[in-house]
Amino acid sequence: MAAAPPAASRIAVVTGASSGIGAATARRLAEAGYRVVLTARRKDRIEALAEEIGAAGHTATAYPLDVTDRAAVDEFATAFRTIGVLVNNAGGALGADPVATGDPEQWRTMYETNVLGTLNLTQALLPKLDASGDGTIVIVSSTAGHATYEGGGGYVAAKHGAHVLAETLRLEIVGRPVRVIEIAPGMVRTDEFALTRFGGDTEKAAKVYQGVAEPLTADDVADTITWAVTRPPHVNIDLMVVRPRAQASNTKVHRES
Ligand SMILES: NC(=O)c1ccc[n+]([C@@H]2O[C@H](COP(=O)([O-])OP(=O)(O)OC[C@H]3O[C@@H](n4cnc5c(N)ncnc54)[C@H](OP(=O)(O)O)[C@@H]3O)[C@@H](O)[C@H]2O)c1
Repeated sequence: MAAAPPAASRIAVVTGASSGIGAATARRLAEAGYRVVLTARRKDRIEALAEEIGAAGHTATAYPLDVTDRAAVDEFATAFRTIGVLVNNAGGALGADPVATGDPEQWRTMYETNVLGTLNLTQALLPKLDASGDGTIVIVSSTAGHATYEGGGGYVAAKHGAHVLAETLRLEIVGRPVRVIEIAPGMVRTDEFALTRFGGDTEKAAKVYQGVAEPLTADDVADTITWAVTRPPHVNIDLMVVRPRAQASNTKVHRES
């Protein structure tokens, strides 16, 4: 377990904390000593998680927030003087249609959530991260931010956007006391990611993981994020690509049956 972070850096904001990787990251960061602020649209989920984290002896508060609502994000930012960590995790995929027939509305939503949502939180909280004297921005992109696959066009384009945001921001703020860390997971079996992608179709969602011995879990990714965040302040983990052993690339996956 890493040493508790210094007092000035102790607030960690996690977006998309109502499920999957975001919820697991909130739990891990709370265990590492951060006071976690849980955000997502589903109030009941983040309130229940805040209670769970509190019952485990840590500190968590819930703040319902749609990352695409810039006015709401700006209002949220006024609650803080300084924060230590921002984990931009809210996002996801919609559909798996080829470019020729993909739904522009789904493409728009994916861009707005995965890219502009990250931009909104990052712009609103960057001054507070600066003010901490030791801030960290995490961007949860994806291996879809680094290579494409058939049927992935809209999601791949959005996650490439998130990757470029991370790379550009790191160049632009060098010299300021804020790190920019990109975590790019491959196949992670979470409760909702594939279901959301396929509009609630459980059969299609199950096929994503069919025969894969051990896809990553939300906690595997949360562990990776927490490890990167708890390195000494001068150590910037620029980018980590994390896949299950059974996945050699976005399109090369070992399935047992
Ligand atoms: N699972 C994978 O295989 C995988 C692989 C690589 C990268 N990722 C990325 O990892 C992140 C988390 O994925 P996951 O697997 O944990 O999926 P998930 O369980 O579906 O979580 C997505 C989270 O994003 C939140 N969210 C979505 N739209 C939002 C909005 N407009 N405003 C605020 N919050 C919003 C959701 O909360 P509400 O609905 O309550 O708002 C939810 O908490 C995503 O960025 C995803 O693209 C996932």
